[in-house]
Amino acid sequence: MRLMSAGSAKVAPSPVHHPLFARFYARCSVDAERRLGLAAVRERLLAGLSGRVIEIGAGNGLNFARYPAAVAEVVAVEPEPLLRRLALDAAQRAQVPVDVVPGAAEALPVKSEAYDAAVLSLVLCSVRDVARALAEVRRVLRPGGEVRFLEHGRGGGRMMTMTQRTLDRTVWPVLFGGCHVAREPVAELRGAGFELGPYRRLLLPEQGPKLPTSYGVLGVAWRPREPEPR
Ligand SMILES: C[S@@+](CC[C@H](N)C(=O)[O-])C[C@H]1O[C@@H](n2cnc3c(N)ncnc32)[C@H](O)[C@@H]1O
Repeated sequence: MRLMSAGSAKVAPSPVHHPLFARFYARCSVDAERRLGLAAVRERLLAGLSGRVIEIGAGNGLNFARYPAAVAEVVAVEPEPLLRRLALDAAQRAQVPVDVVPGAAEALPVKSEAYDAAVLSLVLCSVRDVARALAEVRRVLRPGGEVRFLEHGRGGGRMMTMTQRTLDRTVWPVLFGGCHVAREPVAELRGAGFELGPYRRLLLPEQGPKLPTSYGVLGVAWRPREPEPR
């Protein structure tokens, strides 16, 4: 039976409340699956996963239908109330059990070392405190557990990175639900103590004009295994 904690239970007021952005994202993200080629990228993000998975900032649940059957359970944390409701709908259509729960990346409402994998998909741009969020991801993964990430961040030439920094200091986070365009997800993961596996830079979309959000990265990182006792 599938657990759905967010539907009827009373929850504390959400730490993330972006109703306008949530409506915008709910509409645009579905279109972006085709227009930006995101559907295929999500397939690659999730391919080969198995066991217990936690997805951070799951949005409207666009990844859910793409989890491989070898995944035993997904706990999908989403703080924004409207997106969480849409995620609950998407969870019903998934081929694996998906439990949608309220909560924020900076204080994940789950036990330590309980997950084989964590999925970060277009979310490090939006969390308030990246270092804290990644420390939480590290806490909830078992030693050797993997992080699958699809993120966007700093990229392009000098003009583009200057534009990205300016946008981050001014209108972008206000207009787009706390999103930042000049963050550096790979450096943040390394700084949080993850071992970086293979990753590749990609443009979203691959063809056409470059936007401040176009500089993507798709890859794997691991929580290091504990050192062998001497
Ligand atoms: C650009 S959307 C991406 C949604 C989804 N992961 C996807 O791939 O389509 C960013 C998501 O991060 C969520 N978010 C924002 N702040 C967060 C936080 N502190 N902790 C967890 N999620 C957060 C937003 O509510 C939103 O669902």
